[in-house]
Amino acid sequence: MKNNSLPRLDKDEALRRELLKFCRLAPGDIWIDPVNQHKVGCLDATSSSDMSKLMDGELASLAIHDPPYNLVAFKERELKEYISWCEKWVANTWDILGNDSAFDIWLGADQKNQFQPLPDFMIMMRDTNFEARSFLTMRNQRGYGTQKNWMAVRQELLYYVKGEPAFEVQYTDIPKILRGYYKKVGGRVTENLERSKSKNIRPGNVWVDIQQVFYRMEENVSGCYAQKPLKSIERIIEASSNIDDLVVDFFSHSGTTLIASELLNRRCFTVDIDPVYCEITIRRLEYFRKWGKLGWQNGNPFEKELGWPTPEKSGKKVKETQERISQPTLFRN
Ligand SMILES: C[S@@+](CC[C@H](N)C(=O)[O-])C[C@H]1O[C@@H](n2cnc3c(N)ncnc32)[C@H](O)[C@@H]1O
Repeated sequence: MKNNSLPRLDKDEALRRELLKFCRLAPGDIWIDPVNQHKVGCLDATSSSDMSKLMDGELASLAIHDPPYNLVAFKERELKEYISWCEKWVANTWDILGNDSAFDIWLGADQKNQFQPLPDFMIMMRDTNFEARSFLTMRNQRGYGTQKNWMAVRQELLYYVKGEPAFEVQYTDIPKILRGYYKKVGGRVTENLERSKSKNIRPGNVWVDIQQVFYRMEENVSGCYAQKPLKSIERIIEASSNIDDLVVDFFSHSGTTLIASELLNRRCFTVDIDPVYCEITIRRLEYFRKWGKLGWQNGNPFEKELGWPTPEKSGKKVKETQERISQPTLFRN
């Protein structure tokens, strides 16, 4: 298997600076997708003028944000600064959402440091007009099948609403196995399985069925250090928006929300303050459209410029991704 992975770009400033040469967007620029009119902006999520420039009068039905949350221990002052930084992009989110819309935020909780920043973030949210709806945990694992690399990982997801948006119940791929005869319907004792609408269980508010992205997955975008699994973003989009709706993500990074929106026929406006992640986001969409792949597995988005082997030389477009993919394939070569 080839291995042209980029190192984590947050740890290799020299390489990140070199990649800036290949970026289409400079701070303040917005790329408009000529095919489906998505937008990628090199903008600051805390700036209200940047966000209204991005929206240009449109309103979204769903915002999914995954801000950086500095798991390096917060000191008291830094925590306050972090929360007031959050207040700004939360206020901007209120402004870009239409009535009856959903707002999902991924946040970390450092167990070695009073579970911060989650609790202070939740307290800050009490003073906004958003209403809390659910508090979810995505429990996933790293290093399946290895003795040394295994690590349990949990990520928290907060679900708020503006108004009363619709919510479409989702199902996992996990079959229902529990049986029970505890309910009478029309005088007849029925069991769980015959009453249920689906053969599979719902995700509930502890998601256990989503694999953390790692280098052997096709959706992997090397260089990125905080990529969310596509399946998790697709679940949110399907639960809280309709086809052709506008989805917004203020912290694009590897462009997961953009790719999920493309797969699910939504439009997506997304921004990142760093031109390199904006470029990666645009390239991920273009690469998907050209080759049907969701990421670079252990290749990388800048292989051509860096003079490393490119999959284009030997690759054929992957056939099955012409159809909609909702579950990315593991271990594809
Ligand atoms: C945790 S990552 C998001 C990961 C993303 N959900 C994914 O799946 O790839 C956070 C991103 O926010 C960006 N960022 C940090 N401050 C920002 C700001 N003020 N405005 C916009 N983006 C910002 C960082 O450059 C980083 O790429």
